[in-house]
Amino acid sequence: MCRMRCVRIGPCLAVAVFFLSAVVLPAVRGADEPGGDVPRDDLGAATPEYQQAAFSKLMPDADVTKPPAGFDPVIWNAFVPQDNAMTPDRVALGRKLYFDKRLSDDGTVSCATCHDVTRGFTDQLPTSEGIGGQFGKRNAPTVLNAVLLQTMFWDGRSPTLDHQAMQPILNPVEMGMPDEETAMKAIRGDAEYQEMFKKAYGREMNFQDLGRAIGAFERTLVFVDSPFRRFLAGDTAAISAEAQAGWDLFNGKARCVACHPMSPSNPLGSDNRFHNIGVSARHQNFEELAAEALTILKEDSSEQKLDELAVGTDLSELGRFMVTRNRADFGAFRTPLILNIGITAPYMHDGSLATLWDVVDHYNAGGEANPFLDGGIEPLALTEEEIDQLVAFMFTLTDVAFADENQQQFDRQKALAAKERPERDEALATRKTLPFEDRVMGTKSTDQ
Ligand code: HEC
Ligand code: HEC
Repeated sequence: MCRMRCVRIGPCLAVAVFFLSAVVLPAVRGADEPGGDVPRDDLGAATPEYQQAAFSKLMPDADVTKPPAGFDPVIWNAFVPQDNAMTPDRVALGRKLYFDKRLSDDGTVSCATCHDVTRGFTDQLPTSEGIGGQFGKRNAPTVLNAVLLQTMFWDGRSPTLDHQAMQPILNPVEMGMPDEETAMKAIRGDAEYQEMFKKAYGREMNFQDLGRAIGAFERTLVFVDSPFRRFLAGDTAAISAEAQAGWDLFNGKARCVACHPMSPSNPLGSDNRFHNIGVSARHQNFEELAAEALTILKEDSSEQKLDELAVGTDLSELGRFMVTRNRADFGAFRTPLILNIGITAPYMHDGSLATLWDVVDHYNAGGEANPFLDGGIEPLALTEEEIDQLVAFMFTLTDVAFADENQQQFDRQKALAAKERPERDEALATRKTLPFEDRVMGTKSTDQ
């Protein structure tokens, strides 16, 4: 089965370079996804106690010094910084910090407020709410599998989890600590922390080690055991015929694979590159914003300032430009992982698309026209049936530990899409077929 499929998707290496693809991971992480009776705090996230309990159920103790199931040790080591080897003490410290609201200026927000265990490790909001009822301009990505990304944030401005973890604590619209010293002061008196930092890093508490510990904790959040993975590994019954048709479209007519590579050897679904796919173009004048950004950055180009502008102001829409200052990067954002995509709505850097049906509609229309639109984005002329197939495929990318939540989200999104989606404009069907589609689709592209 895999052989046949590998031939069809061309670039896929039969030998698993990235993962031991033959391993079908055991479904050990049973999670009873909570329903409406979840106790919530003021910002809508499940309470830390509730999240901690849900987390313990989701991830029973594992040996964190070993690679996650299915990973080649050599490959895995590349994801672990040399100064932050995985140890149980570091992970335990990171876990405590992740749920600790004292790290925010008014004691109301922790990482887990916006990356909530019960909500796919995001907040399922268009854009996030931080201290004092402030909303940022960006959608919170899930931290599930974030370890497998090459850069952090939608614009890639942070290189590692360890570095990333320090930013939201100091961001004025997120956790709002004025500086590192104040952040450390909030927990320095805690004897348990003193002990845990000592055990984890063998020195006095400091802000860098705080970032490292949270990073170590997040490296345990590898959830890649999806029905689709099992399908790729040879279990042909793992996904429906509809989803299989969606997978063919993903590789062919819909051209998703160009930026979301998925194969047995690399099943993550991100090229780790930055593209303008016409999301921010909806409401922004890039040139004007760029002039404003450059003026501000001339005064202060610190990483803290950059974080502040990217998350909290309209300059957010400049995307990768804010990092490279290259005009070609106007409105370009990093291709996200699409693993567990079923449970992390709404979508895109600004959370502007409510369902996966809306996402496919966006691509089907060829994105929003703008001079910086990626060349790979063109009208697709997908039929309603094909749109459903693509969506069905995307709902097979969620780890089986979240199967219930995934099903609930599918039902919810389907109902929402039935109600909210505009009537389709069938005049879209003017698109040309590209040469590579025939190669990928074989005889299947006769429906054009
Ligand atoms: C107020 C909500 C909020 C809080 C609190 C928060 N985050 Fe986030 N997080 C976000 C948003 C929004 C983004 C995207 C920002 C961007 O790309 O510019 C993000 C991005 C991330 C990413 C990058 C993921 C990716 O795909 O690139 C990681 C990892 C992450 N957060 C972890 C954390 C950790 C660890 C903490 C606690 C120290 C934390 N977050 C606190 C909202 C929040
Ligand atoms: C030219 C590269 C490119 C192509 C082709 C492409 N994508 Fe994307 N995809 C991206 C980028 C970049 C983003 C983030 C854009 C943003 O937020 O502004 C994204 C975002 C998404 C998201 C939202 C993820 C999230 O966490 O919010 C989904 C789902 C998605 N793409 C699915 C698809 C599907 C399905 C196709 C094929 C119909 C496709 N993509 C084609 C680059 C691409």
